[in-house]
Parts: sequence; C-alpha cells; structure tokens
Amino acid sequence: MESSLLFYLLCVWALNCPSIASVEAMEQCPERILGNERRRACPKKCLLDEECGSKRQCLCDGQCGLSCVAPGRTCPWPLPPAKHCDVALLSPSPSFSALLEVRCKSGYTMPNGLDVIIRRCQGDRQWSGDEPVCTTSQNGDRAEEPDRVPVASCSLPDYDLLSMQGSAAVGSSIKYQCESGYVLVGHSQNICHKNQTWQYPHPVCRRVFCPPPKEVDRGHLVAVHRVEYEVGNTIYYLCKKTFFLDGPNQVTCLPNGTWSAVPACRARCPVPAQRSRVIVGGEKRWPYDLTDGVVAHGENVTFFCQYPEKQCSFTATEVCVDGQLMAPSCYLDPTWLQFKLFPHRLVSEIDACDPADLQ
Ligand SMILES: *[C@@H]1O[C@H](CO)[C@@H](O)[C@H](O)[C@H]1NC(C)=O
Ligand SMILES: *[C@@H]1O[C@H](CO)[C@@H](O)[C@H](O)[C@H]1NC(C)=O
Ligand SMILES: *[C@@H]1O[C@H](CO)[C@@H](O)[C@H](O)[C@H]1NC(C)=O
Repeated sequence: MESSLLFYLLCVWALNCPSIASVEAMEQCPERILGNERRRACPKKCLLDEECGSKRQCLCDGQCGLSCVAPGRTCPWPLPPAKHCDVALLSPSPSFSALLEVRCKSGYTMPNGLDVIIRRCQGDRQWSGDEPVCTTSQNGDRAEEPDRVPVASCSLPDYDLLSMQGSAAVGSSIKYQCESGYVLVGHSQNICHKNQTWQYPHPVCRRVFCPPPKEVDRGHLVAVHRVEYEVGNTIYYLCKKTFFLDGPNQVTCLPNGTWSAVPACRARCPVPAQRSRVIVGGEKRWPYDLTDGVVAHGENVTFFCQYPEKQCSFTATEVCVDGQLMAPSCYLDPTWLQFKLFPHRLVSEIDACDPADLQ
C-alpha cells in the first residue's frame, strides 16, 4: 500500500504519468524519449549488461530508460538544509535508484500543489527533478516568492567518489567515505562552524592500487604482468611440478593496497629409510614402493625402532616440512645383509612391544 503510494508520487514527480491506473505498467522500464528528457544527459543506452563494460550495469534509469550506470556511485547526501521542508533518505544509502523524500513543513506546499515529493538517485549521480521549493499557500492565489536561501550551512564538496553522512548545517558534523577502491586522504570527519566554514578542508579520494604481487619460489603467477593492479583484482598461483601449494591458490588486491596472504610452494621429502617399512597415510609400506620414494609436504611418516635389548618394536613419527624429513633418533636403517638374509627379523616386521615392556 505504502510502496505503491510512493511509486505513484515518484511517478507524478519524475515521469509525469497520466493516471494511477498505469502505475502497474510503469513497473517496466520506460522507453527513453529523445528530446524530451528533463535531464542534462542520459547515460549510454543499453539492453544488456555486456554493452556497459566491466564497471557498469544496464539498469532502468527513470526517464532515460535502460542505461549503463555504475550502481555503486552515490547522489549528493546529505543535502544542504533547505527552508520550509524536511528531507529524508528512504533508502539505506544514497546510491543509484535510492529514494529521497522532500516534505514541506505544515502550511507550505510546492508550486504543483503537493506537499511531498519523492526524488530518485539517477545514473548521473543527481537526484531526479528540480530542486523542490516549499512556499506558503495562505495568501490565496498569490503564492509567496519562493525562498531559496538555505539555512546557515557550510558548503559541500564535489561528490564524485566521496559520500557523506551527517549534516552540513552550522554546528553539525559530517563523516566522509570514499567509494571502494579509493582511499580517503585528509580528515574523515568535519565540523561546520558558526561562521560557515569547515574545521578542516574536505578530504579527497585517491585511487588505490596494489603493486605486482610477490613472486613465489618454485611457483609462478598466472597473470598478465602489470605495473599496478586494481582493488579486487585476483591473481592465481601455481606451483611447479611436484611442489605442494601451501595456502590459497589466489591472492586478491585489498582495499588498503596490499595483497591477501600469498601461498608457498613446498617441496616433497625423500624418506630417510631404505630397508625398513614405514607407515605413510595409514599404510605400512616399503619406501621404494612410494612414488619417487618421497612423501608430500605435511605428510606424517611413522618409523619402527627397536626397543633396547628386546625383540620388539615401537614407533616414532616425523613430519615432512618443505623437503625436510629427519629419521627419528631411535631409528637405525638395517644393513643390506640383515635385509637380504633375515627379512622377517627386520625391526619393522617383528612384533610391537607390549606397552607394559615400555613402562
Ligand atoms: C571560523 O570559526 C572557527 C572556529 O570558531 C575559526 O577557527 C576560524 O578561523 C573561522 N574562520 C574564518 C574564515 O573566520
Ligand atoms: C590491509 O588490510 C588487511 C585486511 O583488512 C589487513 O590484514 C592488513 O594488515 C592491512 N595492511 C596494512 C598495511 O594496513
Ligand atoms: C600428522 O600428525 C599430526 C599429529 O598427530 C596430525 O595433527 C596431522 O593431521 C597429521 N597429518 C597428516 C597429513 O595426516
């Protein structure tokens, strides 16, 4: 109910539609009527997102019809305070297609007789329609001269890239934010003094770039090499053959101009045992049966050791860390003769010690 009323008001203001019966039909994007735009410039006309490049989308932009717009861009907000009306943002942020309500104070109306209008944030980063003016309607037919003088406030900066929260009225404070991909240079908050000057100059938004990402030893970047990268760019890493990718396989250029965590390429480890079985991946195997006689980075290798003066074995586990795998100090590799002549008496083949034997 309320939203259809809003839509009708928007309709009356921005689109001049003839009757409330056609509100349903207006849900579709209107055709751009050439020469009839109240706007200085409509963005590029389109039918599909693909026509709009990477940063823009093909969206309905009021009387401009389907147009290439950057939906993240914002319209001026807050607006300088105006006399005889209250202005409220009806959307969470003043970005594309956000709605703004301008309501005349009691006893005041706009020249068209309405006391409320809705303005829409257009693709050209301006609010739809003209600056509304609320005048008193008490003098019968003769409306009072429009009073365009705003209440005392400080001037607002060029809004490109910079969005603001708060009020520019005297005694108020304001917070600034830059669009994603830009960093704010200067003060992020400001106060409007009684003499209508800001405490600090307005900040500026500087574009953020990441330097080329770090090279990774034994790996390579899957990317076209560039001098700088934009925020949000992603680059993939691959490790050279046999090396294990430790960490994410991609890095992203962060809003502060640094890259997310870079991975490492880890080497596999030769197993420091030849004539004894070891446990790898839960299986008891001869080292020469392992592919290339190596285990992956991070793999556990369990060795069999002999308990002194007893014919029983116990185990000790070591981890392969980037090419380094040491045999545990208790491990002794059997001699060639032991291996050939008494394979069943190898430490890895005899019974495990009873836990009681080990105390
Ligand atoms: C305006 O007022 C502030 C604070 O009272 C003061 O610091 C500043 O110098 C004044 N600026 C001008 C241009 O008078
Ligand atoms: C950049 O941002 C990331 C994530 O927010 C943070 O972890 C990192 O410390 C920041 N780096 C610098 C230099 O501020
Ligand atoms: C190796 O052993 C440790 C400790 O017992 C365990 O946390 C880890 O998950 C094991 N790694 C593999 C690859 O099985």
